[in-house]
Amino acid sequence: MSRTYYVTTPIYYVNDVPHIGHSYTTIAADVLARFFRQAGRDVRFLTGTDEHGIKIVKASAEKGLTPQQLADTVVVGFEQLWRDLDITHDDFIRTSQPRHEARVQAIVQALVDRDEIYLGGYEGWYDEGQEEFVTESAARENEYKSAISGRPLVRYKEPSWFFRLGKWVPRLLEHIETHPDFILPASRANEVVSKLKMGVEDLSISRLADKVGGWGVRMPNDRDHTVYVWIDALSNYLTALGWPAVGAEDDEAHMRYWPASVHLIGKDILWFHAVYWPCMLMALDMPLPQCVFAHGWWTSEGRKMSKSLGNFISREVIAELCAEYGRDAYRYFLLREVPFGSDGDFSRASLKGRYNSELANGIGNLLSRTTNMIDRYFDGVLPEAVGVGAVERPVIDAAAALREGAEAMMARCDFHAYLGALLAVAQATNRYIEDTEPFKLAKDPDQRRRLGTILNTCAQAVAVILAHLEPFMPEVAAAGLSRFGGAPAAGTLAERTAWGALPAGTPVSKGEPLIPRKP
Ligand code: MSP
Repeated sequence: MSRTYYVTTPIYYVNDVPHIGHSYTTIAADVLARFFRQAGRDVRFLTGTDEHGIKIVKASAEKGLTPQQLADTVVVGFEQLWRDLDITHDDFIRTSQPRHEARVQAIVQALVDRDEIYLGGYEGWYDEGQEEFVTESAARENEYKSAISGRPLVRYKEPSWFFRLGKWVPRLLEHIETHPDFILPASRANEVVSKLKMGVEDLSISRLADKVGGWGVRMPNDRDHTVYVWIDALSNYLTALGWPAVGAEDDEAHMRYWPASVHLIGKDILWFHAVYWPCMLMALDMPLPQCVFAHGWWTSEGRKMSKSLGNFISREVIAELCAEYGRDAYRYFLLREVPFGSDGDFSRASLKGRYNSELANGIGNLLSRTTNMIDRYFDGVLPEAVGVGAVERPVIDAAAALREGAEAMMARCDFHAYLGALLAVAQATNRYIEDTEPFKLAKDPDQRRRLGTILNTCAQAVAVILAHLEPFMPEVAAAGLSRFGGAPAAGTLAERTAWGALPAGTPVSKGEPLIPRKP
């Protein structure tokens, strides 16, 4: 059995419609899933929706719907967006599904059995938009408003069950210190560590069921309480694998994927994933995920995204952008524009700029030149490479750097550098064509072998570029590769992209520009 790779996205709240931020994490997860499948790993890719909590209850009431009706409506939009963006998840979990609810109860019961949970009372501030308890000092600092949404915090006072979070903090700190890749980027790990060192209180993990209209998972040990929505939500990463066994047919069918290779999340929900979740897992005696990666946030046209400003990038706007540039270009742009981990600004001008300079002029043009010349000078049959030498080196070296660095860059979610290395191959090859001037050599019959070597070198480079581009731009890459002898060869990515993997004699066809320039 090959090594497993388990990648997850956050499960998205259904109080609001899908937007660019959701698409960002899910595209990143899809790229990882596609890449590691190509690398021969046994991949599991999970996404889904977070449907419980006060926020959903309030949003549905405003719309005159039940929470379930709201969830059922909004989920359709998420599923549509994932189809629109060619997302290849293996499972889509909804927290209102019985398979999830039963297992959340089993998880909480296990914590009860282990004496990790006790009854107390919660009195303090709550950020309903973030579904987050806020300490007095943090509340005061932000004038009793949400640090994220700016909306007023709500005062809560009610009996509540508590998880002994504080008890696990020393072990968590040690884990973070001994596992430098546990929280990425590293700067985020430092933030978590300093906050942990300031002291952490036990975590209120239940809400009175009446306060949330009964919408949620009941505490197994107390019918008056529902499970705090974050405990419910975080559990999805395990419940979707069938854990713990509660008697259903697919119980634990996928437990070979645990622990997760990476939980991809946005920076605003790092604390939940880097503190609550691992402490819960330690209390359950379960292995911790290998990595929690917190990416940055997008603004739009230079400002915080909002419907009233008219810069909100909804599913409809994404569909429009995909119609104009192709969905592959949208996928590419998001992961290329800024390093994963940094904040980015989306603008139509930068999408168009990158599309034209990197995709159309860089990769598309190279593909066209290469296939056109092979068509014209060699009747569409890939010539042999003979006497490869120093002139070819920069191209071969750039391709080797990409191929050899690819897996490590992907393991660190360094999409930006990966695509940078990929573009470097295109640049080196375009420069090689300018330097060697094959169109001039073509006029001299004595240079035929040299011409063949140059075009073979270009074709090898294009094949390496397209194969590595596949996880990001699956349709464009497949269409490009199909111009070199039809179906892509079998084997792992590394096998398929060894230098010279494209044999002389391969039929090469020219065609319409694959990535046409936008005026
Ligand atoms: N339901 C919780 C997650 C539970 S995971 C066990 C949640 N949902 S959310 O729908 O509000 O947010 C989901 C993700 O979208 C978060 O990772 C958040 O960082 C991300 N984004 C929301 N707006 C964003 C941008 N403008 N830019 C990038 N990502 C953004 O939180």
